[in-house]
Amino acid sequence: MSFRRIEDAPSNKTALVRVDFNVPMADGKVSDDTRLRAALPTIRALQAKGCKIALLAHFDRPKGKRVPAMSLQPVAQPLAQLLGAPVAFADDCIGEAAKAAVQKLPAGGVILLENTRFHAGEEKNDSDLAKQIAALGDFYVNDAFSAAHRAHASTEGVAHILPAYAGKQMERELDALEAALGKPKRPVLGIVGGSKVSTKIDLLKNLVTKLDRLAIGGGMANTFLFAQGHEVGASYCEKDQAETARAIMEAARVAGCELLLPVDTIVSVRMEHGAPVFTRALGDLDHDERILDAGPETIKRLLAAMDQSATLIWNGPLGVFEIPPFDKATVDAAKHAAALAKAGNLVAVAGGGDTVAALNHAGVADDMTFVSTAGGAFLEWMEGKKLPGVEALRHG
Ligand code: 3PG
Repeated sequence: MSFRRIEDAPSNKTALVRVDFNVPMADGKVSDDTRLRAALPTIRALQAKGCKIALLAHFDRPKGKRVPAMSLQPVAQPLAQLLGAPVAFADDCIGEAAKAAVQKLPAGGVILLENTRFHAGEEKNDSDLAKQIAALGDFYVNDAFSAAHRAHASTEGVAHILPAYAGKQMERELDALEAALGKPKRPVLGIVGGSKVSTKIDLLKNLVTKLDRLAIGGGMANTFLFAQGHEVGASYCEKDQAETARAIMEAARVAGCELLLPVDTIVSVRMEHGAPVFTRALGDLDHDERILDAGPETIKRLLAAMDQSATLIWNGPLGVFEIPPFDKATVDAAKHAAALAKAGNLVAVAGGGDTVAALNHAGVADDMTFVSTAGGAFLEWMEGKKLPGVEALRHG
């Protein structure tokens, strides 16, 4: 792959750097700063070149409107702390005020620009918006691999207007995923969990054709259990996706991919710390009870599947890991994968905002072979899809 890299970028200019600060937040505060830390090498490399640095990012899905709860402002201070330098904030990513604020920066100074998705043109990849963004800088750096599956003005459009470079995190992701997933050692086990059922369920169709085994966990597993005819009580479940779930099960059968669905569950009436919890067989729950984690037998089977695999690709937690004890399946699986990876017996690659937070929660993120900061982009890359944000950086 041929990209212009930070080393090739000019000195003493203004860099527009697309980062991914779509970070987990709780009560208006950053609750996992992995994506902030991932941006530091690029920021520091540009500071060393004496560049002014204007950071472009989106947060959540405000759909082209200014939604105060989706402001990036709460990100500036934690970033400044990690960087050990001030980070200014501009309440728009275009316009005269933003331009003046960028120009006012000293050499090596950093400013975070407000949520690009407050403009409707962002997701439409509107060329006018891209031009207005581009007017703020001399060159463009894309360090947001995790947003590179979006052909948006700040991830794709600007790359065609200004000289464009791949940032350090972008490079790391591309190098590591290519090495780990280009030609994986078989057997390959996939774990897909989390609650974005309707967005991931279509991807599963493709994954079953590539993996030897696929374990399904988290909220999305409930949809599969429902599709198999099991009672799911008050569990999170997309009942209208039952047909899709059945189609995936059939596709897996045809492709010879073994699906590992939960064989037992942890249920509770309340999704809170200290609530009474029960281990239940499939379908054995009252109408007001919810499945909040995988049960012990399911965990046992999953760990055994890891022992039999050479490569693990993991996206999404297996239960409500933020609220113990519903973190047990995720933590046990993470610890086991990390131990196998550390011993050199498993290539363990994980990705996805929630996955990263879950691995950090389990205390094993550093022991995995590679942890991507990406969610959807990670999965699309795994499918072999071209990512527009990456394609726009290709050179020559
Ligand atoms: C992510 O968090 O996966 C990326 O930032 C993309 O966010 P999106 O799914 O809202 O486009």
